[in-house]
Amino acid sequence: MRTPCIAGNWKLHTNPADAGKLVRELRDVIGAPEGVEVLVFPPFLSVGAAVDAAQGSPVGVGTQDIYHEESGAFTGEVAPGMALAAGCSHTLIGHSERRTYFGETNGSVRMKVDACIKAGLKAIVCVGETLEQRENKTTFEVISDQVRTALEGLNAASLSDLMIAYEPVWAIGTGKTATPEQADEVHVFIRNLVDELHGKDAAGAMRILYGGSVKPDNVDGLMACEHIDGALVGGASLKADSFARIVQFSR
Ligand code: PGA
Repeated sequence: MRTPCIAGNWKLHTNPADAGKLVRELRDVIGAPEGVEVLVFPPFLSVGAAVDAAQGSPVGVGTQDIYHEESGAFTGEVAPGMALAAGCSHTLIGHSERRTYFGETNGSVRMKVDACIKAGLKAIVCVGETLEQRENKTTFEVISDQVRTALEGLNAASLSDLMIAYEPVWAIGTGKTATPEQADEVHVFIRNLVDELHGKDAAGAMRILYGGSVKPDNVDGLMACEHIDGALVGGASLKADSFARIVQFSR
């Protein structure tokens, strides 16, 4: 059985004080949820406050991006070992906003995946097609390139430290969610790809999250799909009540 994971991507929101407050509110509302992993991804400078506020709770903390080197002359970057030392368990890699605004490529995503595995930082690798790609009917080609480049040739044991988030770019922050059928179709495709690359066991164990305008009122329909193992939530993760409702999804 794959333990569902509900992850909040706070993007460029929450200063340290806000992040600490939001984690404390979240702990109060979710209590000790059974059978679900809960993660939040604050901006780098707010990670420390979130980690302090999450001590002794089921909420895990991660970074929104990471660099592929452990140290050196790389102004502005943060290394996997530093994220671990700051109390993070996870990082996001290759979010579409990083790809669109900051030049992230499939190649740089792979370097980050390798660096995280080496350091022992768990990662959620984000993939997804743009509206243009969906309309051109190249969704599966795009997803295939993204997933293959990220996972091909990895040692099967390290796959357990990875999750994949399918986030159609046209659904992020737009209020347009993929229907459960549209999302599940791509999730099945991704699982089959993991099977092709790493075999049945790895494919069966890989958690594939959906992201893109997940809200309290659509989470249950999405989570009802067999191959949707959780959600990566942007806007609706910034309020403790709405994020808590998503954590308390029913299947
Ligand atoms: P959204 O963002 O929930 O605000 O659409 C999702 C994401 O970017 O991870």
